[in-house]
Amino acid sequence: MKFFVDTADTAEIADLAQTGMVDGVTTNPSLIKKSGRDIMEVTKEICDLTDGPVSAEVVALDHETMMKEAEVLRKIADNVCIKVPLTIDGLKTCKALTSDGTMVNVTLCFSANQALLAAKAGASFISPFVGRHDDNGFDGMKLIDDIRLIYDNYAFDTEILVASIRNPIHVLESARIGADVATMPPNVIRGLFKHVLTDKGIEGFLKDWEATGQNIG
Ligand code: E4P
Repeated sequence: MKFFVDTADTAEIADLAQTGMVDGVTTNPSLIKKSGRDIMEVTKEICDLTDGPVSAEVVALDHETMMKEAEVLRKIADNVCIKVPLTIDGLKTCKALTSDGTMVNVTLCFSANQALLAAKAGASFISPFVGRHDDNGFDGMKLIDDIRLIYDNYAFDTEILVASIRNPIHVLESARIGADVATMPPNVIRGLFKHVLTDKGIEGFLKDWEATGQNIG
């Protein structure tokens, strides 16, 4: 399973990239706002930090303007992936861009039928939002399970990019189901490394090591 970082914070991306865990990055208008940076400038900087896909989202609601915005965004770097909302105009844009060889991430997916539409429109990635699904009393992981089944039934190439991940359980369940990608806020990626017994084990080993009075090297 690929790991994307869900942030526009370049310091976090650069730091996490050193672990070898960063296969790509996702941004959205809220994350750009949080970064306080100019979208063109920060997206370029992110594209230089990873060879993987970097999702940059259009904000227009109509197909024609979405295409114009996509044209601007895709010139930033070869690894820019255009993010469009799951609407009729968004899917028209997806179809046009992917037919032209541009990567497209269809975002704000909340049903398996929507995911089916995105795959038929040739999406490179579909982003079902599990956290927001859970927040509203639905089962986010059931959605991922349904999409996996449907995509496998018809051998769609569209990658399932689990979004709106809030905790390590979402990551574990996504991996069990066989989702292709999990995009996670930096704190969730960092949380995956942690285990109380790892910390306790280190503490015990260090205490015993100190008692030996030895040094390595
Ligand atoms: C990523 O592509 C999505 O925009 C993001 O995961 C949404 O997460 P949120 O529901 O925590 O805002």
